[in-house]
Parts: sequence; C-alpha cells; structure tokens
Amino acid sequence: MKKSPAERISSSRPEVVVRPLTSLSDFEGCVFIQRKVWGHPDLDITPVHQFRIAVHTGAIILGAFVDGKIAGYVYSFPADFGKVRGQHSHHLAVLPEIQGLGLGKTLKWAQREEALKRKIELLTWTYDPMQARNANLNIHVLGVVGNRYLRDFYGETPALVLDAGVPSDRLLVEWWIKSPRVKGRTKAAPAPFDFGRIPKALERAAGGTGPEAGPGRPVLDLEAARVLIEVPKKIRDLPKGTGIIGAWQTAARDTFESYFAHGYRLEDFISGDRSFYVLRYAPSSRHLRQG
Ligand SMILES: CC(C)(COP(=O)(O)OP(=O)(O)OC[C@H]1O[C@@H](n2cnc3c(N)ncnc32)[C@H](O)[C@@H]1OP(=O)(O)O)[C@@H](O)C(=O)NCCC(=O)NCCS
Repeated sequence: MKKSPAERISSSRPEVVVRPLTSLSDFEGCVFIQRKVWGHPDLDITPVHQFRIAVHTGAIILGAFVDGKIAGYVYSFPADFGKVRGQHSHHLAVLPEIQGLGLGKTLKWAQREEALKRKIELLTWTYDPMQARNANLNIHVLGVVGNRYLRDFYGETPALVLDAGVPSDRLLVEWWIKSPRVKGRTKAAPAPFDFGRIPKALERAAGGTGPEAGPGRPVLDLEAARVLIEVPKKIRDLPKGTGIIGAWQTAARDTFESYFAHGYRLEDFISGDRSFYVLRYAPSSRHLRQG
C-alpha cells in the first residue's frame, strides 16, 4: 500500500532532500506551501517574482523535498546589520501533515550551513511570542537570543493576528550562527531546565487549572538572576472573541518589555505540561540593538 508523506518521512529511510531553490517552478512550490501552511489570502502571499529577485540578489532559499515533492522551505534575504554580515529569515514552513517530524529543524540547520559558507554571522527573524511551539524551536532547539519586543509589528493584517483586534506583536530574535551556544545546539538541545526555584514574573491566574483561566497579574519588580514568563501551551486552542487571547498577549507584552528594559534577555524555553520563557539578567551581553 502507498505510504503517506508522514509515514515515509518517519520511516527509517526517509527520502528527504534539501536543496537550494532557484527556478521559477521551485518558487511556485513556495507559493503552494504558503497556501497550505498559512491559508493566507492572495494579497498576503509572497509571489514567485519576489523569490526570483531575492535569490538573484543574495537571498538563501532552501526547499525540503520528500519523494521529490516540495514539503517545506526556508527563506532569508540579505540585511544591513552594520559591520555584521547577516540575513533576515522571513519564512519557515512545513506542510501541516508532516509537521513535528523534524523537517523544520533540518531546514534551519541547512540554512545555517549555507549561511556559514557565505561568511554570514547572524540570522534574525521575528515570530509571535505567544506561539509556544515556535518559541521552543527557536530558543531551546536552535539557540536564538534576543531582547527586542516589537508591538503590533505588522499592523492589523488579519492573516497575521491571533484574534480580531489583537495586535501583531512579535519578538525579534538573533541567531548568532558561529557562537558556542549555537554550535552546541547542532549536537543536542540542552537538558531540561530545573526551573522549580526560578520566580515567575507571569503565570496563569491563581486557582486556574489552565490557560483558559487567563493570565495572573505580571510581577515586574523581581530582582533575580532568572525569571519565568508563562504562555499558553497552545494559544490557538483558546476561544476567539472572548478577550482571553488578548489578555495573555497584553500580560506577556508588559512582562517582556519591562524585563528587557532592565537588562534581561531570552535564555531558554521550557515546553512541558506548562510552557515558560526563561529570561536571564545579562545587561552587557552582545546584542545587535538594545531594545
Ligand atoms: C514551525 C515549523 C516550520 C516547524 O517545522 P516542523 O517540521 O513541524 O518542526 P520539527 O519537527 O523540525 O520540530 C522542531 C521543533 O519544534 C518544536 N515542536 C515541534 N512539534 C512540537 C509540538 N507538537 N509541541 C511542542 N513543540 C514542538 C520542538 O521544539 C521541535 O524540536 P524537538 O523535536 O527537538 O523538540 C512548522 O511547524 C510550520 O510550518 N508551522 C507553521 C508555520 C510557522 O509557524 N512558521 C514560523 C516558524 S518561526
């Protein structure tokens, strides 16, 4: 019987090939993936001609193919970071039916390899800090750092917000691809964090059994080497139109902004029964732009 893509990729010898995307038909594959992954209206889809000129002017676009069919891609374009050679990574997407099987990680590590060949030191990207799964991939698995919270960065584009009327807030993260931190992650993600003693700057409301209870009040005056910020495990499972998604976002925004302003930065992400960002006090650490 013919195997599904998920069965093929999770079998012992998945036929996965990652290669640079260069042709017009390759870029049509990127459009196909965008439609499948994000379901955006046409106006919000990056078109073939944009990919074409981006590659022509130095962008890195890599596709992952399963049995010869495109299953995901990663896209970054050259960015001006002063003396630091870098790119901004704008898309990472894997077909929904094969998410969680390792392709996203494979694409990011391949992007790093290609960037190193081009003498690139830094890749940045933005992501929605309320998306716990992406936070885990970015911080815990890949080892990004960051201390910049961008309010309503993309405006009220409906395709990019979590709920009607909720701003498109983003975290800007930095992937210093030659750093010992990131090199270490190429071998393994760090051991699970013992967070029992770290104070919580934000957690779900007292007495609540889950994120449905909403956030508690942020504690913005902790003086500790590390603090935790809780976010719902799956923000998209919370009911829309009730205000709860916006309440979590506002509480997390206040907490991130306050601690970033006081010299904290992203250190790790804990993904278990509950999800927490770990922020560490490191006022002099090297970052592209302080918030
Ligand atoms: C984000 C995305 C590209 C990741 O690709 P993927 O193939 O699903 O991810 P992988 O299987 O390589 O998993 C990578 C990491 O994501 C996290 N992850 C994946 N599935 C997860 C889950 N069910 N719960 C929590 N974390 C999960 C884990 O950290 C995982 O690493 P680990 O297995 O070492 O713990 C993919 O899920 C996707 O296309 N999502 C929609 C588009 C999107 O959000 N893009 C922006 C990314 S910043």
